This record gives sequence, structure tokens and C-alpha cells, in this order.
Amino acid sequence: MNFQLAVIALLLLIAMLLIILWLQSKKQNTAIAALGDRLQTQVQSETHGVFAQLEAYLSLRDRLGLHQGLPYSRNWSAAPDFLKLIAEHALAVKPTTIVECSSGLTSLILARCCEMNDQGDVFSLENGAEYAAGTRTELARYQLENYATVIDAPLTPHRLDDREYQWYALDNLPDRRIDMLVIDGPPGFIQRHSRYPALPLLFDKLADGCVVFMDDAARPDEREIVEMWRTAFPGIEHEYINLERGCSMLRIHRDKP
Ligand SMILES: C[S@@+](CC[C@H](N)C(=O)[O-])C[C@H]1O[C@@H](n2cnc3c(N)ncnc32)[C@H](O)[C@@H]1O
Repeated sequence: MNFQLAVIALLLLIAMLLIILWLQSKKQNTAIAALGDRLQTQVQSETHGVFAQLEAYLSLRDRLGLHQGLPYSRNWSAAPDFLKLIAEHALAVKPTTIVECSSGLTSLILARCCEMNDQGDVFSLENGAEYAAGTRTELARYQLENYATVIDAPLTPHRLDDREYQWYALDNLPDRRIDMLVIDGPPGFIQRHSRYPALPLLFDKLADGCVVFMDDAARPDEREIVEMWRTAFPGIEHEYINLERGCSMLRIHRDKP
């Protein structure tokens, strides 16, 4: 009798163990399937993103007739979809004066637009001596140096609303009405709200109808900057453009408060 009870107990124990193992493997299979789904979605979205950027790069290269290619750097250049957006605006509106916060491929693209428009000048505020030299070299290589000037503008303290920001020195920026402003610097790691000073410090120079493009607008810091600008300048019109890194496009209306 004792022996029979022991066998039954053992069989029950084995059955319980099998059930536990089965439940665990079912849980693991569900987790693996969910991970697989997540990976598949991520790969699909990355692939879609890469194709979209490639398409923007190729169409920009053809539109600007730059068949020797564009000196694109994935780490530091603005993404092709942003470059295409600003180029299309510059070609459509033909701005006389374009100011840029930072320099690089954006300067080259905008200079080429001025050349195609047969009018307009680009002024790029650049804090980094090496970046300034690199941009000047590329402008010369593409014979665009007559359309863009890289201004040595070290980051210096600017006090705004009781806060101190490191932002470009403006001493060498020519006194001209700005028709288009492109903001792609200073980098976010310099300080919180790194690009905020652009509007308060340049606002008086912006022409009525001036269009401002801020890159990387998907980041929380840039979203806060836009809210700070809208509070400080309620008359500006804002549109968020859903690019890879996000773009905030703002239109200045001088007749509005
Ligand atoms: C953000 S990207 C912008 C490039 C340009 N708009 C383009 O699309 O090619 C490079 C900018 O970051 C700045 N930068 C890079 N490293 C930096 C550093 N360690 N400190 C300050 N500025 C830096 C450079 O001076 C340059 O103006």
C-alpha cells in the first residue's frame, strides 16, 4: 500500500513538473515571438527610413546638378530630407540673404541654390575653426565661395531672460535683412536649450515673411525651444514637419504682435 502511494505521489510530482516546464516554455515562446515581431517592425521602419533618405539624397543631387556627389557625413551633416526641404524653399523663394547657425553641407547646398537662382548670399555662423576651414574648402572645391561666407563666430556668453547661454558672437554678421534662417547649431550637448538664442538675438534682423528652419526638432529640447519662442513672439506661425529628425518651420509676421 505504502509502495503504491509512493508511486502515485511520484507520478503526480512528475506530472506537475511537466506542467511547469510546459508553461515555462509556452511563456518563453510567447516572449520570443513578441521579440521577433518587435525586431521585424524595427527593421522595416529602419529600411523605410534609409530608402527615404537615399531617395532625398539622390533627388537633391539631381535637382542641384551636383553629379560629383555631396560630401555627406551621417554623423554631423543634416539628414538629406532636411537638406532637400531647405533647398526647395531656397529655390522657390529665392531669398536675398540666408543666415545659418552652424556650417557644413547645409552651407554648400544653400550656396548652390543661390548660384542657380543667380541671386542671394549665405552667411554661416561657425564656432569651430576646423569646421569653418572644412566648409570653406568644400565651397572652393565646388566653386561656390562667391555665394557663401563662413563667419568665424566663437560661442560667447549671451544673457537672455536671466539665463546665460553660450551662443555665436555676432560681431562679424553683416547688417542685412534676413529672408531665410537655418538653425542647426550650436550642438545640444553644449547646454540646455542650446538653440534658443537664435530667435531673440536675431529677431530684429528678420524680414517680414522670413522663414526659419530648425533641424532636430523631434528632440524634447527643441520642442521646448519652440514653445519658448511662441511665448516670446506670439505672432510667429509654426509648422512641425515630420522628417527623420523633425523640422520646425516658423514664419515671421512683422505686423503681428
Ligand atoms: C551639428 S553639425 C551641423 C552641420 C551643418 N549644418 C551640416 O548639415 O552639415 C556641426 C556643428 O557642430 C559644431 N560642433 C561639433 N563638435 C563641437 C564641439 N565639440 N563643440 C562645439 N561645437 C561643436 C560644429 O562647429 C558645427 O557647427
